[in-house]
Amino acid sequence: MLTKKLQDAINEQINKEFFSEYMYLSMSAYLESIEMEGFANYFNVQAQEEHFHAMKMFNFVHDKGGRVILKSLGEPKTEFSSVLNVIEEALEHERYITKSINDLMDIAIKENDHSVKSFLEWYVDEQVEEEATMSRLIAKLKMINGEGLGLLTIDNELITRKFTPAE
Ligand code: FEO
Repeated sequence: MLTKKLQDAINEQINKEFFSEYMYLSMSAYLESIEMEGFANYFNVQAQEEHFHAMKMFNFVHDKGGRVILKSLGEPKTEFSSVLNVIEEALEHERYITKSINDLMDIAIKENDHSVKSFLEWYVDEQVEEEATMSRLIAKLKMINGEGLGLLTIDNELITRKFTPAE
């Protein structure tokens, strides 16, 4: 069983993961609208990853005999000023999610629930990877001033990204 406090906190995190999916789909739609097909694909795959993150928690709550309560999702931002601006906002969002996962881990530690702590380790590691990938992309975009042939080259590279569910 989960304590009420942990169940509520995990339900909040499920909402944030689904919102992340929605937000990345909105970024993907914006990138499609400016003909950045590879970046659009990158965020489409990112959205699928967020769906996976949410469903992994959804299933875990049920495995622990708890109750999932879904809440409404906010409206995602639809307009951005550039490709670089999209990735910078995505990184800022991931840092917020990292803090949220850390806060959730703090609750699991306080409630002394080892199974939740073990489960959350995967998310702790995943956040390191997500922030690193986006930081590298930002660094590359800055090297090419976020435009021109360099931008088209990176866009071409990102077309091949595919969703592969991690264990
Ligand atoms: Fe589910 Fe991007 O963190």
